[in-house]
Amino acid sequence: MSDAQTPSPIPGTNPATPSAVPGAKSMDAIMALCKRRGFIYQASEIYGGINGFWDYGPLGAQLKKNLRDAWWEDMIMVPCWGRKGPDGERVRCVPLETRIIQHPKVWEASGHVGGFNDPMVDDKETKGRFRADHVQGIFEGIITVTPEEEAILEQHRRQVVDNRTLPIKTVVASTPGEAVTLLVNDRKLQKQIGLRSFQTAAQGANGNYFWAMADWGRGEQMVLVDVVALDILKKDSARVPSPFTGKPGSLTEPRQFNLMFYSFVGATAGPEDKVFLRPETAQGIFVQFKNVVDTTRIKVPFGIGNTGTSFRNEVTPRNFTFRSREFDQAELEFFCHPSESQEWYKFWRDFRMEWWQSIGLAGENLILREHDKDELSHYSIGTSDVEYRFPFTAPGFGELEGIAHRGDYDLRQHQEHSRTKLEYFDTTRGETLPNGGKRGEKYLPHCIEPAAGLDRGVLAILCEAYTKDESRPSPEFLKLHPRLAPIKAAVFPLVDKDGMPEIADKLYDELLAKFGKVGLIETDAKQSIGKRYARMDEAGCPYCFTVDGQTVQDQTVTVRDRDTGQQTRIALDKVSGFLSEKLGG
Ligand code: GAP
Repeated sequence: MSDAQTPSPIPGTNPATPSAVPGAKSMDAIMALCKRRGFIYQASEIYGGINGFWDYGPLGAQLKKNLRDAWWEDMIMVPCWGRKGPDGERVRCVPLETRIIQHPKVWEASGHVGGFNDPMVDDKETKGRFRADHVQGIFEGIITVTPEEEAILEQHRRQVVDNRTLPIKTVVASTPGEAVTLLVNDRKLQKQIGLRSFQTAAQGANGNYFWAMADWGRGEQMVLVDVVALDILKKDSARVPSPFTGKPGSLTEPRQFNLMFYSFVGATAGPEDKVFLRPETAQGIFVQFKNVVDTTRIKVPFGIGNTGTSFRNEVTPRNFTFRSREFDQAELEFFCHPSESQEWYKFWRDFRMEWWQSIGLAGENLILREHDKDELSHYSIGTSDVEYRFPFTAPGFGELEGIAHRGDYDLRQHQEHSRTKLEYFDTTRGETLPNGGKRGEKYLPHCIEPAAGLDRGVLAILCEAYTKDESRPSPEFLKLHPRLAPIKAAVFPLVDKDGMPEIADKLYDELLAKFGKVGLIETDAKQSIGKRYARMDEAGCPYCFTVDGQTVQDQTVTVRDRDTGQQTRIALDKVSGFLSEKLGG
């Protein structure tokens, strides 16, 4: 790589953040820790793995459960921490659990059979395959930049994107930010596409595109990294350079590929027995809307929450668990009167952002981004994404949760396809009757949908928590929020003798009885105390209690704080109270 100076930021753009360069959090290091400490394993690893599928080890399974429980508690049991909604009333939500396999007509009505497609491109030479909307192009840029040229640069970018200029090179990445990270860090890719040096100069708003200095052997030139418009691939695929070889001539035109997995129900397995594995948990809620209204006393506005596994046959699963073929979602469909839907949309968008912050994703790595009109799904009146700056998307961001205003699209579709009336009769609305009551109003409620991915949530939490500090005896540790930490506390005897193991055992029993239902409590008498602390640091355990020689004398133990490494002494009989306070109750 060139060691040329990073060019100064371009006016009107943000300087490219340091996370785009080596030295920022390394995804490889995070993945290695996840494996080493039993958070995440490759599925079927002993058979060579299966692309797009991941298993959770003991700590990962508990971490993911804690995340799901936190969602369940704050969205369903005490929605929005007991806050009132824009209507001045407490937010009300109920749970639901629906099946992975539904009647196939559900997916016709929802639009998934006809429209849940990704455009796919094949490279005839290498047999590589990728999503057409995941091709980032490196386009010729402007060589010198002065403040006056800011407008020219933006104009140039629009020309590149709108006039379908052909890229010089291409990379498979879901965002320009991810492309930049690959171009900076991936030596194999650099060699493959003949790149001698690459340095980011500046990024557009939220990392939507980047300016960089690049050299393909003709000296450094300024380039633009931006998505390759689908139109270019449709009309000019033969002239677009392959992301695998760097040469044009081998790419096919994009073909639509439906992402739903399917199977057959029953022994005959004929075409009429074909069923789909759900690509989202949301539709289960819409098709049970009427039952929930008819069998409970819940009234609009209210939400129905559903969590569980969804399947998408992603063309290019990538970036660890970020884009998997099997993953878990936590979705809420919040039904309200159409006239109040905009206020509820804003309410949920803001609460969801606050919620992710409350469990440890605070800071500049988390943003709330409103979609542009041309990004909206067919059903959506408005969508915002909570986005996290993952190490592989940095300096850009990747979606963690989408909050969509779906209008009455889904209930209307299911009403039409099932020929079942799904309108809601609202007895609090309509004209006032002589007796002071209301005539009532029939309507299809509008729906606000905060749709979170639990696997992406776990990944973001792990990336954010991962901390490297070479000055510590345990240089890698996970700063997990105590609410999410899979191990809540560890109890160690300093040495395995002199009465210490007995006291440690008693303390362990006490903590297990009190906290064992909210998380794991560990004890370990083997290895040096430093190694035991290091192990707990990597597991993200917030507190270690150590029984030492002094404990035997004065009934105090040391408590070690994971984040600072500092130890203080507290009375043995105060340990439970201390931990309870730290874990929030
Ligand atoms: N019901 C709306 C819906 O499913 P989505 O944006 O397609 O919306 C919601 O999915 C969330 O599910 C995403 O924000 C993401 O966290 C997660 N998700 C979607 N596809 C995923 C995949 N292939 N791998 C892991 N998580 C995924």
